[in-house]
Amino acid sequence: MAALANRSVKSLVDTGMREIPKSYIRSENERSKTTAVCTESIPVIDLSGIYGPNRTEAINAISKACEEWGFFQVINHGVPERVIENMMRAHHMFFELPEVEKAKYKAERHDKPVVYGTSFTAKDQKVLEWRDFLMFIVEGTIDAQTLKDWPPIIRDSALEYMTEVRKVALEILSALSESLGISGIFESIMGHERLLLNYYPPCPNPDMTFGVSEHSDVGLITVLLQDDVGGLQVSHNGQWVAVQPISNALLINVADVLQVLSNGKFQSVEHRAVPNYSQARISVPLFCAPARSTIIKPVPELVNEHNPSKYRPFTFGDYLTYFHSRSHSGKADNLAYARLE
Ligand code: OGA
Ligand code: NI
Repeated sequence: MAALANRSVKSLVDTGMREIPKSYIRSENERSKTTAVCTESIPVIDLSGIYGPNRTEAINAISKACEEWGFFQVINHGVPERVIENMMRAHHMFFELPEVEKAKYKAERHDKPVVYGTSFTAKDQKVLEWRDFLMFIVEGTIDAQTLKDWPPIIRDSALEYMTEVRKVALEILSALSESLGISGIFESIMGHERLLLNYYPPCPNPDMTFGVSEHSDVGLITVLLQDDVGGLQVSHNGQWVAVQPISNALLINVADVLQVLSNGKFQSVEHRAVPNYSQARISVPLFCAPARSTIIKPVPELVNEHNPSKYRPFTFGDYLTYFHSRSHSGKADNLAYARLE
């Protein structure tokens, strides 16, 4: 498997392969759970509401979505359509490059500000994931030196996209702080961002494997752009709910650190992606997180004798290292790291 683990999924598919290799096949037990329900759908929120006279209602809708679902779509979010289109176009252009060009960006996950790879932690993963990725890691601000390392074919589009989407993330964090009466707190904690370009090639056996298997995200919140192929599923009340793509919408989800800061009020949610038989799918999550040195613990104003702290303090950097030392394996395991029992 080691040889395959380093090989991009796209390069395998490009050989004309008709059946997925064994190393990507999930156990019967996992596969029996792949069917998602479509009867319910995650909330859709018109973000322009937070700038108008009904700000309070808009903020309450965001807060409620974070409590009840941990996942929602936003429309009228202010990111220009042109910026979204450029990002999607550049994304495809990068993955269409010859393998040798993309391979220039291969690296271990934390060694470089840009990493091209496949699967998740491909080297020691038991079952591989049906995706290739390009990840941009930014701690603090993006300087000229950082930009030089980014692939030229995608540099301008990714920078512009990240700049616009960061504003959406900060607006939502600010709305959530305000909803809990701690204005300014959540948004002030952002200090580390990861822009991930997921590329899910078409898959000859889409019900035997996952593009990304179930996990929760580690940061504060994630803002995700996807094309219209579909494949993202969200865990809700014990069922997997398939997310219906909405053109130009952005998906928002609560991640683990926000769950800890809010002392469990906002829940990070498990999600996963299934591949498609005939079409490649792309998605672009921006993971918004604290700087590595930030100490994460419930915000003191939210803790009292009736609502004692549920989590022990930890640094974000340690949490990130812990997360990346394991395969994607659901959320319960993630937060067990910090939970006080
Ligand atoms: C992720 C993720 C889902 C998707 O990369 O963390 O959850 O739809 N991706 O691509
Ligand atoms: Ni995720």
